[in-house]
Amino acid sequence: MRGAGSPCCCAEGERRPQGERRKEGRVGRRPPLVAVAAMFLCAPLRAAAARSIRQIRYLHRTAVCNASGGTLFVHRDSPENNPDTPFEFTPENQKRIEAIINNYPGGHKSAAVMAVLDLAQRQHGWLPISAMNKVAEILEMPSMRVYEVATFYTMYNRKPVGKYHIQVCTTTPCMLRDSDSILEAIKKKLGIKVGGTTPDKLFTLTEVECLGACVNAPMVQINDNYYEDLTPKDIEDIIDELKAGKVPKPGPRSGRFSCEPAGGLTSLTEPPKGPGFGVRADL
Ligand code: FES
Repeated sequence: MRGAGSPCCCAEGERRPQGERRKEGRVGRRPPLVAVAAMFLCAPLRAAAARSIRQIRYLHRTAVCNASGGTLFVHRDSPENNPDTPFEFTPENQKRIEAIINNYPGGHKSAAVMAVLDLAQRQHGWLPISAMNKVAEILEMPSMRVYEVATFYTMYNRKPVGKYHIQVCTTTPCMLRDSDSILEAIKKKLGIKVGGTTPDKLFTLTEVECLGACVNAPMVQINDNYYEDLTPKDIEDIIDELKAGKVPKPGPRSGRFSCEPAGGLTSLTEPPKGPGFGVRADL
């Protein structure tokens, strides 16, 4: 038994010189289990593991990198985006707004907020705070409610974007189908990062969450069109076509129709049976 004056084993440890303890720690530290497992993995598995680790790191970066709709949700007045930035709906769009509002029962104008914000963005190219204030005024709702909607959805661009807004989906299904390679191909081809716009103002690159076309992953949205089943070469071709002033054909690039099974039809492989099929004869 140790007396009050005799230090316990921990205390002894604490008294040892620091360098010594550090050295001991280094010697005693075992390699992490993952590293040991990696030593025994074959090359393709090692490559897959490395890619997964890259993707995990990537996930931590994306939330802060995101541009336009996904930029930090705080507005700061700037010379091009402040409450005095001129914005008025054109007479044609005012008529459209009237038609949209008429889709909803009286007293529920605010239900039109998403459609009217979209109209403002199509007219102006992006959504300055003055456009949001105008929408709030027309729909008779607090400005803050409009800001809440505009900052929640990535479809609203609160910063100017290029003529072609490339939105790359990197959510899980697309990520598993290697959306990272699509993103890298775009960055390399255009020489911009996520959130960036090319100096000629032609392209803006944004990373977004699921765009609802997971079955055709990986995919990107460019303005109103979806380009699906992509390879890095496909996206490079698409960019070349856009640069040449053409509109590339939207949809899957793999040759399949829409989202039918990639390996060919597995059901509905014969013409449907006529009326009465499978019904009891005595009925
Ligand atoms: S995960 Fe990419 S479209 Fe759904």
